[in-house]
Amino acid sequence: MSEVVFRAEGLRKSFGSLRVTDEVSLRLPAGRRHGLIGPNGAGKTTLFDLITGEVEADAGEVFLGGRSLNRAPPDARARAGLARSFQRNNLFPGLTVHENLALACALKHGIGHVFWRRLERFTALWQEAEENAGRLGLADHLGQRVSTLAYGTQRQLEIGLALVQEPLLLLLDEPTAGMSPEETSGILELLSSLPESLTLLIIEHDMDVIFGLAERITVLDYGRVLLEGTPGEVRGSDEVRRRYLGAAH
Ligand SMILES: Nc1ncnc2c1ncn2[C@@H]1O[C@H](COP(=O)(O)OP(=O)(O)OP(=O)(O)O)[C@@H](O)[C@H]1O
Ligand SMILES: [Mg+2]
Repeated sequence: MSEVVFRAEGLRKSFGSLRVTDEVSLRLPAGRRHGLIGPNGAGKTTLFDLITGEVEADAGEVFLGGRSLNRAPPDARARAGLARSFQRNNLFPGLTVHENLALACALKHGIGHVFWRRLERFTALWQEAEENAGRLGLADHLGQRVSTLAYGTQRQLEIGLALVQEPLLLLLDEPTAGMSPEETSGILELLSSLPESLTLLIIEHDMDVIFGLAERITVLDYGRVLLEGTPGEVRGSDEVRRRYLGAAH
């Protein structure tokens, strides 16, 4: 079994009197594709917020690559190897796909001042961005402005920007939400071509996506872990079916 790259221990969070995350623990070995499912309001997105540090936990601890992230703000957690693709868009819509990727490459190398010069002048960055576009299935869109891309392609680029950073752990919150079946299969193709070493934690309501991709799945319900198991175990669980699969899907 691979070394554990990510560990959350006893995470707890309440909003007022509502306990949204209740003693959640999770261990992910390197390269694991792990699904996170559960009814609306189960606390899935909040768990991501606690992992990235956007929301402060009341109790519990988060480790990445053996280091405690507890006192680290979100930007330090990102530098430690945590990447997240949001449901909301974080692209530069007025720039092209090529420029967005080149900026992500610049960030990866810690080069901030490219913002003040024409990106094409940075030949190495420009080429690196092009290579990434090829890997991400975006080569045909290189010169296109992001604002003119189809919704699914924008989401694909967003995941791509996260991947450029070569994170230890990638968090995806409903990456196929609002997508057409064709766009969904584009995302699935991208996700199945990820490097084996990448660890992925993915929230998804599309059960075909989650059961097709995840090696193990954690089911959250009212902020608690209802079950963690293989897709077969999750599908076979009466409790999961009663609380989630049977009702919503
Ligand atoms: N900042 C906040 N303040 C107060 N309550 C919040 C806050 N963020 C989330 N909640 C509440 O916490 C609960 C869990 O929300 P969360 O968004 O984590 O659920 P989810 O599992 O991601 O749901 P969905 O499947 O609908 O995305 C919900 O009841 C929500 O209303
Ligand atoms: Mg959510």
